[in-house]
Amino acid sequence: MKEKEIKITIRSCDVSELTEDEQRLIEEAKKATAHAFSPYSHFSVGAALLLENGKTVIGANQENAAFPSGTCAERSAIFAAQSQFPDSPVRIIAIAAQNSNGFLPEPVTPCGACRQVILGIEDRYGKEIRILLYGTKMTYVIERASDLLPLSFVDSSMSQS
Ligand code: THU
Repeated sequence: MKEKEIKITIRSCDVSELTEDEQRLIEEAKKATAHAFSPYSHFSVGAALLLENGKTVIGANQENAAFPSGTCAERSAIFAAQSQFPDSPVRIIAIAAQNSNGFLPEPVTPCGACRQVILGIEDRYGKEIRILLYGTKMTYVIERASDLLPLSFVDSSMSQS
């Protein structure tokens, strides 16, 4: 039996080590947590995207009494960006989250469905999306969405011969 090793690199840093754009985006993601509607989980997530056209688009998780009808911050932001600026790739996404104790010390990590959606946008434009996961103790920097979802299902998965 053969083995296939998949290696990804996650950099961990202090926010002050990031570029100005990245620091601003993290601030936007933190602020966006205040736009969450999360009366069921009491977990407020904010996402901020920097698009190639220079625009910033934010999103926050929106819950519903019928649970599956709600959606995560990352998908709220991405679908809003795609609806408003369908021609602009996403360059960076920053994500922050708060629970009843405030911002999480460890970086928040996106759920599987959001990873798939972020990857879908990376695949759609053929442009890598840098992912910044904020935590008060440290921030993770991931260079591309595909690093968060190895062996993924994308467009080309359907056109093999
Ligand atoms: N949530 C997000 O907004 N993003 C994630 O990546 C993980 C989870 C939201 C969904 C739900 O409103 C709450 O956090 C608890 O799962």
